[in-house]
Amino acid sequence: MTTIRSVVSGCGSYLPEKIITNKQMEDIVDTTDEWIIERTGIKQRHIAAEGQLTSDLAIKAAKKALTAASLTANDIDLIVLATSTPDQTFPATATRVQAALGMEKGAAFDIQAVCSGFIYALSTADNFIKAGQAKHALVIGAETFSRILDWEDRASCVLFGDGAGAVVLSASQGTGTNKDQGILSSHLHSDGRYNELLYVDGGVSSTQSTGYLRMKGKEVFRHAVVNLASVVKEALEFNGLTSDDVDMVVPHQANKRILDATIRKLKIDPAKVAVTVHKHANTSAASIPLALDDMLKENRIARGDIVVLEAMGGGFTWGSCLIRW
Ligand code: UT7
Repeated sequence: MTTIRSVVSGCGSYLPEKIITNKQMEDIVDTTDEWIIERTGIKQRHIAAEGQLTSDLAIKAAKKALTAASLTANDIDLIVLATSTPDQTFPATATRVQAALGMEKGAAFDIQAVCSGFIYALSTADNFIKAGQAKHALVIGAETFSRILDWEDRASCVLFGDGAGAVVLSASQGTGTNKDQGILSSHLHSDGRYNELLYVDGGVSSTQSTGYLRMKGKEVFRHAVVNLASVVKEALEFNGLTSDDVDMVVPHQANKRILDATIRKLKIDPAKVAVTVHKHANTSAASIPLALDDMLKENRIARGDIVVLEAMGGGFTWGSCLIRW
């Protein structure tokens, strides 16, 4: 049976120039380099310059992804941009990217699923492609979380950073088996009962202000490991694969201890896991495409590999995406 598959035809990323190390964090809040490394694995984070917006990061990543795909903005029918830190309440940051790329056709919109945003965006774009509604889609994760951090709350401000990553998905003919190249499946979940474990205490409709990120870290940690391991298993089982078939896991980069615990549960070789949290910190929806781009630059992903993306974030939301490269 022939079927349309979405193949990743290009990837790109961008990090703001300014870096804040853990040592520098010691001057901002009552923390230590040792505590941050031991509890999270984070050593530094990139922070957007004054006046540098989420769209600015997104545009830079998008241009690199287009170049890598050997395509131009004119080839793109759809932009799906995952962010929780948009430039404006409306319109969508995706439309600013669209304008900056010089695209006058197609559709562009944002997706809001916090740290799972990139998986949600990828799944959405994949469905557009499979339905024949788009041929080439730009999927972006871009965030300026530094703008919603309470820089007096040491339990949260040390954890996050800014950045953007993007992929181009292109329609390709498949046979409907797990031997096809491209996205084989994606699996999305949410459970709104957990809103108060990870949220922003402001918003247009509630406070008419932006608000700051609030998190009960320990509880989020516990749920993250269980949900991530389960959604990766779901993806493997759906495709008739096992942990042994996995060549690379590109997880959302929140905490090295979450990555390690999830991988242990899944019995996957740690050498097959992308780890960038030490240099990027948690960049929410941008973390997966940033890590993916790193793995591609390091030639750690080859054609035919089984690559699993997984993320969990506020909402709660969580999901996975299984790709044959
Ligand atoms: O992207 C998805 C969403 N985010 C996550 O997945 C994050 C999930 N959670 C975590 O990564 C971890 O729970 C944290 C890194 C946030 C915290 O690690 P923890 O081992 O759960 O520490 P804790 O919250 O239990 O705090 C332990 C201690 C506390 O002191 P007391 O009460 O034991 O005296 C905190 O006040 O560490 C203290 N603490 C700090 N100390 C130095 C909290 N933040 C800091 C800090 N520096 N920055």
